[in-house]
Amino acid sequence: MNILLVGGGGREHALVKKLRESPQVDIICALPGNGGMASEATCVDISATDLQGVTDFAKNNYVDFALVAPDDPLVMGLVDELEAAGIPCFGPNKAAAIIEGSKAFSKALMKKYGIPTAGYEIFSDKDAALRYLETAKMPIVIKADGLALGKGVIIAQTLEEAQNAVISMMEDGAFGESGNTIVIEEFLEGPEVTVLAFTDGKTILPLASSMDHKRALDGDEGLNTGGMGVIAPNPYYTPEIAKLCMDTIFIPTINAMNAEGRTFKGCLYFGLMLTKEGPKVIEYNCRFGDPEAQAVLPLLEADLVDIIIATRNQTLDKIPFSVSNRASCCIIMASQGYPQSYLKGFEIGCRGCLGSGVEVSFAGVRLEEGKLLTNGGRVLGVTAVADTLPEAIDKAYAAVGQIHFENAFYRKDIGKKALEA
Ligand code: AMP
Ligand code: GLY
Repeated sequence: MNILLVGGGGREHALVKKLRESPQVDIICALPGNGGMASEATCVDISATDLQGVTDFAKNNYVDFALVAPDDPLVMGLVDELEAAGIPCFGPNKAAAIIEGSKAFSKALMKKYGIPTAGYEIFSDKDAALRYLETAKMPIVIKADGLALGKGVIIAQTLEEAQNAVISMMEDGAFGESGNTIVIEEFLEGPEVTVLAFTDGKTILPLASSMDHKRALDGDEGLNTGGMGVIAPNPYYTPEIAKLCMDTIFIPTINAMNAEGRTFKGCLYFGLMLTKEGPKVIEYNCRFGDPEAQAVLPLLEADLVDIIIATRNQTLDKIPFSVSNRASCCIIMASQGYPQSYLKGFEIGCRGCLGSGVEVSFAGVRLEEGKLLTNGGRVLGVTAVADTLPEAIDKAYAAVGQIHFENAFYRKDIGKKALEA
């Protein structure tokens, strides 16, 4: 089979590696991909958000099946375009991708169908939002309605911080159109868990649970990022909690989307907080997480090609599916300065052997005259799989120690909180 993969980051490289394990795969084309995956996939320089360009490419190049990984093209309706052009596709259509594309939509969905989440109000008027804050309890959480590269969430400790957040989103346009509408929600406390699950709208097959590390610096300090490291499985996510989440969140969400005429087919990302009152939804994403995918895909034992086809054809109940009970740890190596400004163009090198069970997923890199150069904030992810979490963490850090490029930085405490659980 010839597979078209839309996207170009570390998550997409992890998907390429998993697809390559399948005996069914012939050619993988990545649009745009990146230089670090060029030996495993044919990278073609077409942007993931160029809907017409991607669709034309798919029509002209013997593509048997497409997989759309990033949020923007999903929310823009790339799956609808590809399917309309006769290309079978993995990923939610535009109507279903709104579960990530609009927080106002997802909050209203949860309220309507009794799915546990933080209490909230929605505002499209700045003055109404500011008036509401006067009597609200602090800390409080302010979220831009639309996509904002994972940065559209501000946790305000004081009234002044909250007011500034509202003004930056609604008056200064810090997140563009995404901030025209905002959600102001109750601050929740408890361990965070991510669960990625394949669903065809009828069956739900969760992957290993995971814990992301979103802040840039050790000890959860610094700015929010797309994610600086992940461990899986998440020790807070016990079998009892998994059952509770399946019954009170996962199945109700699938049913709610069906009832709204927005059947979700693809990978649904549940960002959960385990509060004293039980698990609550912090956010839904309509796709694999990045870097969660780099940590949980290596633990998937089933054939990913079978899964993506069955997800699209609504036959997930008919295929073999299993997840390893081993552990994994993914550490992101970034460019100093990320998530703000940083330099690019440094050669990436490796001092020695990375060890067995270790994989590197390239993200912000480019290939130039046979050399891999840094080309983004998050440069690469190193994932190690082992029998236990402490071993996976040690192995991942040992491998990180072998990789070098100028201005590299990474968190030294990925998995620390999980080990304390
Ligand atoms: P999001 O982009 O929605 O995942 O939010 C980014 C991060 O903000 C989450 O991973 C949480 O750590 C935090 N966060 C979001 N919503 C809340 C909330 N209601 N209460 C506490 N923390 C939150
Ligand atoms: N790592 C968080 C995300 O993919 O949204």
